[in-house]
Amino acid sequence: MTKITAAITAVGKYVPDYILTNKELESMVETNDEWIVSRTGIKERRILKGENKGTSFMAIKSAEDLINKNSVDPKEIDLVIVATATPDMQAASTAAFVATSIGAVNAFSFDLESACSSFLYGISVASSYIELGRYKNILLIGADKNSSMIDYTDRTTCIIFGDGAGAVLLKPNSEGNGFQDEYLKTDGSGREFLQVPAGGSLKPATEETVKNKLHYARQDGQTVFKNAVFNMADVCEKVMHRNNLENNDIVWLAAHQANKRIIEATARRLKLEPSKVMLNIEKYGNTTSATIPLLLADYEKNLKKGDNVIIAAFGGGFSWGAIYFKWCYNS
Ligand code: UT7
Repeated sequence: MTKITAAITAVGKYVPDYILTNKELESMVETNDEWIVSRTGIKERRILKGENKGTSFMAIKSAEDLINKNSVDPKEIDLVIVATATPDMQAASTAAFVATSIGAVNAFSFDLESACSSFLYGISVASSYIELGRYKNILLIGADKNSSMIDYTDRTTCIIFGDGAGAVLLKPNSEGNGFQDEYLKTDGSGREFLQVPAGGSLKPATEETVKNKLHYARQDGQTVFKNAVFNMADVCEKVMHRNNLENNDIVWLAAHQANKRIIEATARRLKLEPSKVMLNIEKYGNTTSATIPLLLADYEKNLKKGDNVIIAAFGGGFSWGAIYFKWCYNS
């Protein structure tokens, strides 16, 4: 019997129009363009402006981009997963709203949250469903409105994060392309180093939490940095080794865009030439769940059928992992 794998067959993206440049940040906090570019590689990021626009707004736009470019019939979608760390609201599923808004009337849907690894884990979940034969058309969206949890007086976080969304469609593949293998990890002892302390069940909103700015993202940048560099390269190496892949066999590294130095250090450890490393951090900053689908959308024209791609992420939790994927189409 032919083995069925899950392959990405279409991609879409959306980034808000408003561009927050390093120059503008210089007028908001004590920082400068040279520091931001040399320490992070980021030149600008997008911010979603306007009342009543949450993560779902961007998720819907990215899904519509995919649907329109590829003439997808939303009625044929079986499942919509919204990978996000910034859902529209607590309790009500963002994915349910997105699925209904795009006309995926025959789909069920759910949100998947694991900080910056949300989209990576989403690929794992969607691929498993498809390999099991349970669903055939899964729309996986990575979307985050990070500006909703950023303190724009805190220079250690506000220079990094941006808003955006990307979408991919996963379908069964019988040619051997698509999902090949994964190595996923978590370590809850990392929770203290990257978090939004209040607003969840542990510390619900009070006057005090608002006054103490506990609804904003905080991180111990250096600790997160060190863990990201070591762990992301480690899981990539493990997945490559397990699949007998040498550096020359890898065509692309699609790594979470948190800091250009983290991505470059990972590539160096894997002995990958810089030309194999997807990068768009300079334009969008860290968009959490959206970085990987935004990369796939920006590099879609460069990706060729059969290309070996390593997709990797590291984020809050800590949560991290690597997935080995074979691209399945030429665009
Ligand atoms: O996506 C989820 C995972 N997140 C990450 O992966 C983020 C990982 N961490 C990082 O990317 C980096 O740690 C940062 C970009 C957050 C910070 O870069 P760094 O090279 O680790 O800087 P640092 O925290 O060691 O700070 C160096 C200096 C400090 O000044 P002193 O103590 O040396 O005088 C900071 O106060 O830079 C100062 N600094 C800044 N200066 C100008 C910190 N932020 C800024 C700023 N502009 N925005």
